[in-house]
Amino acid sequence: MSQPERWSVSWQGGDGRLVAREPAGPEVEAAASDLLAWYNEEHNRAMMASQERMNLGDVREQFDGAQEDRRSFLLYADGHLLGDADLRHIDAATRTAEFAIMIGERKVQGRGYGTRFALMLHALAFEALGLERIYVTIIPANRGSLRLFEKLGYRADDSPAARSYVDEQDDVTMSFGRDEFRKLHGETVRQLAIGCIPADDPARDAPAAKP
Ligand SMILES: CC(C)(COP(=O)(O)OP(=O)(O)OC[C@H]1O[C@@H](n2cnc3c(N)ncnc32)[C@H](O)[C@@H]1OP(=O)(O)O)[C@@H](O)C(=O)NCCC(=O)NCCS
Repeated sequence: MSQPERWSVSWQGGDGRLVAREPAGPEVEAAASDLLAWYNEEHNRAMMASQERMNLGDVREQFDGAQEDRRSFLLYADGHLLGDADLRHIDAATRTAEFAIMIGERKVQGRGYGTRFALMLHALAFEALGLERIYVTIIPANRGSLRLFEKLGYRADDSPAARSYVDEQDDVTMSFGRDEFRKLHGETVRQLAIGCIPADDPARDAPAAKP
């Protein structure tokens, strides 16, 4: 069964409008070549520990709305695509998921977008999707990612549940619970607009052109 609704989170900050949204097919097509280039960029591949180069079919598959245990999002700043993120292995019984994110262009990394988009999607996960704990796995060399998740409030978690997501034994595993999230970010969450995208509105907020 396909997922009936697609979600969107937006944040109007002093420096522009950030939108994370679950895209429909045409929006995925518009984003696919940029995403593919970013996934296959050498540094990004190393940081994401990607074994194989990806192709367009792999990109489309990541956004296949029929996967009930995964929700994938495109990330826009003032209408410009910056990257993607997803909640994967969503488990309705344990109310848990794993989170991953990419800010694609090297020159855009390190400017705070990853932290802000991650916060937005955790707000969606904890406040709208009903998740209670989210996990990340990170290679030790990925200092930016480790710092992003520590800043957000994640702490080391070597429990069997957390370790079940690793690819390599030296991967770092961390997790973040809903109560801690609310304590740390409740104020910011109130600034976000979280909602379902109307079914007849597949392209609202989608970028018209590359910057
Ligand atoms: C990892 C990633 C999502 C971080 O997003 P970002 O927008 O670049 O990071 P931010 O600007 O929000 O920075 C978060 C923190 O990490 C620090 N940081 C960012 N890049 C860093 C780097 N290469 N080395 C050390 N610290 C770094 C920032 O200084 C900031 O900490 P501070 O506020 O204390 O200064 C992004 O760089 C990315 O997508 N990289 C390639 C793919 C990837 O690694 N994905 C994650 C897989 S787990």
